[in-house]
Amino acid sequence: MDQLAVVVRRATEREHQAIRALVRSERLNPTGINWPNFMVAVAKGRVIGAVQIRKHSDGSRELGSLVVTKEARSHGIASRLIDTLLADDQEPIWLITAVPNANAYSRWGFEQIQVREAPAKVRRNHLMGSMARIISFFKRRPMQQLVILERRPIDGRMTTRKSAPGLRRERDQGERAPA
Ligand SMILES: CC(C)(COP(=O)(O)OP(=O)(O)OC[C@H]1O[C@@H](n2cnc3c(N)ncnc32)[C@H](O)[C@@H]1OP(=O)(O)O)[C@@H](O)C(=O)NCCC(=O)NCCS
Repeated sequence: MDQLAVVVRRATEREHQAIRALVRSERLNPTGINWPNFMVAVAKGRVIGAVQIRKHSDGSRELGSLVVTKEARSHGIASRLIDTLLADDQEPIWLITAVPNANAYSRWGFEQIQVREAPAKVRRNHLMGSMARIISFFKRRPMQQLVILERRPIDGRMTTRKSAPGLRRERDQGERAPA
């Protein structure tokens, strides 16, 4: 994949359906898919990656809907999406992910917290995701525990650790994550 041919930018209204389809294709949380909240990766006019900041009614924000099409993976596109989404972002933000994937987000300052420490709406999504996983278990799909991560300031600021490795999963390449 030619990295230069992939443009990462804010989504437009006409990309709404493509974003929905991409998020649903990986069985990620199907709620709160509002195109103005999304950053997309586009190649040859096609949306091949997406990520958003969900804005909850309790004022909290959640990084979610991170997805890259299968054929475009392992080229740093998810990392570029998150880099762009969080560039200059100084506000608190949470995300929900499966245990084996949690360390991949430390590059952006995310750290695991106790569920009870998270805002109510993030806790609710964590509960919904956990319930969906139990249903998945009965459908014989892999089930992993979900954790909540919070982006905390590094040295008093929200920064991206440029020197750290990219988005890397710790183990089991076949696992599916939530968000
Ligand atoms: C997670 C995902 C967005 C990564 O996209 P990507 O463009 O390949 O990411 P990058 O190239 O920046 O980083 C790739 C690395 O991230 C790893 N990775 C894969 N899934 C991951 C996950 N859920 N969390 C963290 N890291 C993951 C890959 O193993 C890959 O490592 P490799 O290069 O050694 O193969 C993509 O695999 C995907 O869409 N997965 C299905 C949906 C999903 O699980 N979303 C995450 C919700 S928390």
